[in-house]
Amino acid sequence: MNNFTIAIVAALSATAYGFRCTNLTVPVSLSARNVVFNITTPQNNVEVTNLILDLTRQGGSFVEQRVQGYAAVHGNYSLAATYCTPDEHGPDGSNRKRPLDAVQILTHGLGFDRSYWDLPYNGGNYSYSAVATNKHGYATLSWDRLGVGMSSHGEPINEIQAWLEVDALRALTEGLRHGSIKGVPRFDRVLHVGHSFGSTHVYALTAMYPDISDGIALTGFSQNGSFVPYFALGANFVDVKTIPLLAPQYDHGYLATGDLSAFQANFLGPEQFDPAILAFAATIGQPLAIGEILTIGSEIASLNTFRGPVLVVTGEYDVPFCGGSCYNGASPNSSIPAQSQQYWTNTSISTVIVPGAGHALNLEYSHPSTYKSINEFFGQIDKA
Ligand SMILES: *[C@@H]1O[C@H](CO)[C@@H](O)[C@H](O)[C@H]1NC(C)=O
Ligand SMILES: *[C@@H]1O[C@H](CO)[C@@H](O)[C@H](O)[C@H]1NC(C)=O
Ligand SMILES: *[C@@H]1O[C@H](CO)[C@@H](O)[C@H](O)[C@H]1NC(C)=O
Ligand SMILES: *[C@@H]1O[C@H](CO)[C@@H](O)[C@H](O)[C@H]1NC(C)=O
Ligand SMILES: *[C@@H]1O[C@H](CO)[C@@H](O)[C@H](O)[C@H]1NC(C)=O
Ligand SMILES: *[C@@H]1O[C@H](CO)[C@@H](O)[C@H](O)[C@H]1NC(C)=O
Ligand SMILES: *[C@@H]1O[C@H](CO)[C@@H](O)[C@H](O)[C@H]1NC(C)=O
Repeated sequence: MNNFTIAIVAALSATAYGFRCTNLTVPVSLSARNVVFNITTPQNNVEVTNLILDLTRQGGSFVEQRVQGYAAVHGNYSLAATYCTPDEHGPDGSNRKRPLDAVQILTHGLGFDRSYWDLPYNGGNYSYSAVATNKHGYATLSWDRLGVGMSSHGEPINEIQAWLEVDALRALTEGLRHGSIKGVPRFDRVLHVGHSFGSTHVYALTAMYPDISDGIALTGFSQNGSFVPYFALGANFVDVKTIPLLAPQYDHGYLATGDLSAFQANFLGPEQFDPAILAFAATIGQPLAIGEILTIGSEIASLNTFRGPVLVVTGEYDVPFCGGSCYNGASPNSSIPAQSQQYWTNTSISTVIVPGAGHALNLEYSHPSTYKSINEFFGQIDKA
């Protein structure tokens, strides 16, 4: 090949992942009934570890004991989001298989920000947004969960809690349906994709407003809360103020994964990932607010009367939602994620267990099959 040919090949492979994205700042007015906890904000790593031990003690009731009451929280916040659409002129002509009539809202989990859906890694091919847009013809809106990344931060125990974040997801969903998000058209069809804590938000949102979504994909998810202590202990949490990259942007009360081995244990299945992605993960990692882990359980405890299609996609060796083994000796149809069916009173869920995978599916070698499962599931709804 001469230099000219090489240049053309390079340009084509760049557009293979070509899709257009715009960063947005979305103002939202939110309210929720938050829990008031009688918990002192830890100021150093020793106090963080003490709190984690209090939280994870078997048979313990630390959280219940520290509930002092409930309070209506409301305020104006700003959400950082990225809106992506298919490239107009994809190289294989496969774009725009249909008009751009549906948008997927992508909600990330604990430890990440919205870059989880479009990782600046390995030439950009760990990108859910690229596949959903360029290959399957959807628009996507990823957002930094309230409290994290470039969205508004807040007081990390009594303000940044699950239900206020769920209200942020409601505001974004309604904004898309009404066409009131500046720079984004109005959509009649809104699909919800979550990962981990993002999935529990989608569950809680649709339990609260069963007509708000046209289809759901919950990744890194189950409704078995028994394994959250594995995650909390495995993370080797430290005060965010001890992490130079994050310290300037967050207050005490935000906790960060302690080191790369802790990240690996909680997020990645053995042999399922490029070892170099660990160091990369340290550059994009985000902390969690204590109020988030205190309220995650309440999101998945109630029944859900959503009537639309639901897909659950979880790695076989997921730690936080399966305790490291989703089948646990059971048949495929009664894997721990498939057992969520009992909570959905008005729809039949589909379940995909990704062989060998861990919790952070988008960071593993199997990411193309995860992306495909979700988008093909949504594609089938469209045909139905
Ligand atoms: C959007 O913001 C992120 C985070 O600051 C940045 O990495 C990315 O390059 C921005 N994308 C665009 C299209 O401006
Ligand atoms: C808060 O918890 C402490 C124990 O750590 C207790 O002494 C105090 O009475 C509690 N305060 C309220 C208002 O419940
Ligand atoms: C939020 O903003 C609206 C105007 O956009 C204003 O009317 C309202 O008072 C604000 N609420 C709070 C709690 O600041
Ligand atoms: C991702 O890109 C790298 C480097 O360009 C390439 O080696 C790899 O095969 C690609 N993987 C996928 C799934 O496209
Ligand atoms: C969670 O899964 C474990 C292992 O399969 C099981 O023993 C336990 O009963 C499950 N708990 C709930 C609440 O479903
Ligand atoms: C498992 O589920 C699939 C569809 O979800 C169904 O076709 C199959 O009969 C089920 N198998 C058992 C053993 O229940
Ligand atoms: C859910 O199903 C029950 C029983 O079939 C029915 O009474 C109820 O109206 C349904 N709810 C919704 C929101 O469709």
